[in-house]
Amino acid sequence: MKIIIINGPNLNLLGKREKEVYGSKSFDDFFVEMQFQFREVELSYFQSNIEGELIDKIQEVGYSFDGIVLNAAAYTHTSVGIGDAVKAIETPVIEVHISNTFSREDFRHKSYIAPNAKGVIIGFGFQSYELAIQSFLKGS
Ligand code: DQA
Repeated sequence: MKIIIINGPNLNLLGKREKEVYGSKSFDDFFVEMQFQFREVELSYFQSNIEGELIDKIQEVGYSFDGIVLNAAAYTHTSVGIGDAVKAIETPVIEVHISNTFSREDFRHKSYIAPNAKGVIIGFGFQSYELAIQSFLKGS
């Protein structure tokens, strides 16, 4: 099974950024742990701070991979383009967020991805990513 995690802007700073919200672990360290935990999965990872690069990656993998775990970060709340890309592809997308966006500012309550996602996992810290992968493994 081929699954990719796609992270959006500022998530390259995990471990350094707002530790009280996002924790103190780097995503690279967490990714190594997940590769070990999900040894049966062909797991890949892409991060970009650039909206168009995220769209390019979604299009590239969106007809051949079995699942996309997408944390579009701030673009979740603004990007019609990423929402359209998720709608266009065939690979199912699970939207994830580390923090509980609904307990934060109002502008974080809107998602352009959720309407076209298979499901949404919000607020479980880094575990949100693990739950998404487990869901793909279990099937629907
Ligand atoms: C986030 C929540 C977004 O509102 C924010 O812009 C992020 C991270 C999360 O994982 O909690 O950068 O997607």
